[in-house]
Amino acid sequence: MLHPLRHPLAAHLVASLRDQATPPAEFRGLAHRLGLLLAMESTRDLPTQGATVTTPLEDTAALRLAQPLVVVPILRAGLGLVQPFLDLFPDVSVGYIGLERDHTTAVAHSYYCKLPPLAGRTVVLVDPMLATGGSAAQALTLLKSHGATSLRMVCVVSAPEGVTTLHAAHPEVPVFTAAHDRCLNDRKYILPGLGDFGDRLYGT
Ligand code: PRP
Ligand code: URA
Repeated sequence: MLHPLRHPLAAHLVASLRDQATPPAEFRGLAHRLGLLLAMESTRDLPTQGATVTTPLEDTAALRLAQPLVVVPILRAGLGLVQPFLDLFPDVSVGYIGLERDHTTAVAHSYYCKLPPLAGRTVVLVDPMLATGGSAAQALTLLKSHGATSLRMVCVVSAPEGVTTLHAAHPEVPVFTAAHDRCLNDRKYILPGLGDFGDRLYGT
């Protein structure tokens, strides 16, 4: 269920995001452009319904999206992937889940949750870094407890450890990633990774 983004532009953008010399203003722009590619890739199979539209010349059969999408960022770094979804799907609903990893244990604790109705809608969880998988697994459990049944996860960089954990807890949830990296270090940061995404996005 791991879907690596295979596109030369995605690889180019990931290279610049990884570069420690990339300043926050540029980092945000790169994350936005990569987010557009991830938003396209992760929504390839959205349900559609038949419609008839009238062109200036005649009626024709057409397809329209069957239902509005829900995107849920894990605060704070996930905010960097929301605007690309809003750009492509202007009537998307946005929910928020606040999770923060403890710096010593790397275990995430929840501090905020505000969600729109989820039942019967496609829900995309966005968080750029899938490291241990603890934050994403917790967020997916929360989304399911609020009625979500059609879920997918979008990240920028994933670690094998995180994908394994997520798959064990939520085997039916596909994961879309722009870069599947080597491993975690002893502080549970992804190698080679790009450092702390939230800090780099907001210049913390
Ligand atoms: C980062 C990242 C993920 C989490 C991934 O957030 O944005 O939410 O770590 O790690 P995990 O897979 O091991 O759970 P962080 O806790 O640093 O909070 P922030 O987004 O506020 O910087
Ligand atoms: N969170 C980040 O921002 N980066 C990592 O490498 C791991 C967790």
